[in-house]
Order: sequence, then C-alpha cells, then structure tokens
Amino acid sequence: MSNYAASVVLREAPSSPQLCPKDDLLPRDRVIHLRTLGYKAPPAAEDVAFPFSVPSIRQLKTLEFATPVTFFVGENGSGKSTLLESIALAAALPAIGSASLDSDATLEAQRTFARRLRLSWTHRTRKGFFLRAEDFFGFAKELSRARVEFERRLREIDVEYADRSAWARGLASGPAAASLADMERRYGVDLDTNSHGQSFLRLFQSRFVPGGLYLLDEPEAPLSPQSQLALISLLNDMVAQQSQFIIATHSPLLLAYPRATIVSFDRQPAALVDYGDLEHVNLTRDFLADPQRFLRHL
Ligand SMILES: Nc1ncnc2c1ncn2[C@@H]1O[C@H](COP(=O)(O)OP(=O)(O)OP(=O)(O)O)[C@@H](O)[C@H]1O
Ligand SMILES: [Mg+2]
Repeated sequence: MSNYAASVVLREAPSSPQLCPKDDLLPRDRVIHLRTLGYKAPPAAEDVAFPFSVPSIRQLKTLEFATPVTFFVGENGSGKSTLLESIALAAALPAIGSASLDSDATLEAQRTFARRLRLSWTHRTRKGFFLRAEDFFGFAKELSRARVEFERRLREIDVEYADRSAWARGLASGPAAASLADMERRYGVDLDTNSHGQSFLRLFQSRFVPGGLYLLDEPEAPLSPQSQLALISLLNDMVAQQSQFIIATHSPLLLAYPRATIVSFDRQPAALVDYGDLEHVNLTRDFLADPQRFLRHL
C-alpha cells in the first residue's frame, strides 16, 4: 500500500465527518480522458421499454466528468450498471472477466441506448477496461482452467519429444510456455491460490496501466474494509499516472475518495451530490453509532 492509504485521516467537520487525504498527497498530474456524456432521447413511443423505462436513464441529462474519479451511487435498481455498461459499449472498451461486450446477448438493450450516447473526449484513450465484480470470479476460474491446460500440454510435449533435440522440444512447447509465463506475469502464479479479495486486488495491480479509462461495477464486492483502503490507494496511484475511473459503488469507504464527482441515480435526472449528503454514508454512520436502534424490532 502506498503512503496515501496510510495517511487517510479522519477530519472533524462540524456536521459530517469525512475521510479526507492530506492535500499534499493528492496527485497533481491528473488527466481526464472522457469529459462529457451527452444523450439524445428517443421518440416518446420508444421510451417505454428497458432501459428507457428506468427513470434515471429516461431523464438523463449531460453528465460532466470533471474529476479523474467519478462515482455512480444510488439504490439497487436505480440504473448505475445500465449506464456504466452503455458507456463501456459507446467507448468500445474491452470487458474483463466476461464475454466481449459487443457479442454479449444480454446487452442488446444497452447497445440501443449506447447508440444514443455522445461521448466527448479531451484525450481519446484506447487503454482501459470495463469490469463487473460479479464476473470476476468466473474469470479467475477460467484462467485457472487455462493454466491447467497449458501445463498438461507441456507435460505431453515432454513425453512426445523425449527422443528429439532440445531445440525441437523448445519450438513445440514455445506457445504454451509463453502463454503460461504471460499469465503468471499478469496475474501471479495462480489466482486460485489467492482468496477472492486478494486475487481481485492482484488483478487491478497487474491490469491497471497509465493513461487508461476504467469502468468498474461494484469493485468493493469481495474486499474487506482494509482492502477497500488499498483500492483507494491504488486508484490514487493510477490517477497520478493519467488514468480515469468511473465506478458504480455502494461503499461509503470508496465514496470517500477525495475530490471525486459523485452522481446520484436516486435523483431524476441523475445529479451531483456531496459525500456528506449521501444516504449510503448517513445510514451507515447512524447504524454504526447505534445498531440497536435499527435492530431492536428483530
Ligand atoms: N436486461 C434487462 N431487461 C429489463 N430490465 C432490466 C434489465 N437489466 C436491468 N433491468 C432493470 O433496470 C433497472 C436498473 O438496473 P441496474 O442493474 O442498472 O441497476 P443498478 O443501479 O446497477 O442496481 P444495483 O445497485 O442493484 O446493482 C432495474 O430495475 C432492473 O431490474
Ligand atoms: Mg448494478
């Protein structure tokens, strides 16, 4: 973890204590790639079906990404994932841990919606990815299966080429050996030997590159509070390396990332809110201050 997470401090504000970093630890060299998201609404007859049936989508106005980190927040079902998926489609970002977004049959409605989005860029980056936390575990399993398959192929080659020269054996095993080495370099020897949360952080550490645009859907899902702070630290490191993030989250910890833009999908149209006004934050704070108040009727 960098110095940043270690120095996240609790500052007392009169009404709403907030997690803030020391200003001198905020990245200075920040870059915003995707500047605004515009939307051309469909004719009235078409706006009854999903996703136009979702109030935050139907009433979407231009969104400005004024900071390198933007959070989408709101109740379950308020439209965060739908918009994130549609931005990923419009930006032609690759998906990690799921089928290519272009060929994903479950995203047909989002594709229709994405065609109505207008992205404006200050720096059109081709780096980055879209990741749904819930897809990641299938992805880790898939990597694990691929690794076992490469290792099996290498053992076969050892037997098949037992009487051949080392040169011939090297040629035959090259592709599988190179793929294995690449997987190990990117993801560690075996993501399966890490817990879900560990492998998730490891994936981010290996796949975030400078100058990327990253769309993350609920990245907090497998992460402990401590690991969420590690993710905040990682975000900060990547922001300092010209990366931009748009993150759908329910996590009061992640949402505390300083100087982030927070867009609430509980407003129609979706609108900017302050950290201290978030229901997620206030409800969590009230609950932790007095759990019995919420639980005594159980
Ligand atoms: N393919 C679909 N077809 C029809 N309705 C859908 C489809 N996908 C999502 N919805 C509906 O659209 C609404 C918005 O869903 P979305 O997944 O974007 O919400 P969300 O804000 O990401 O919620 P959560 O916090 O639970 O992840 C929900 O009411 C959901 O039931
Ligand atoms: Mg969602």
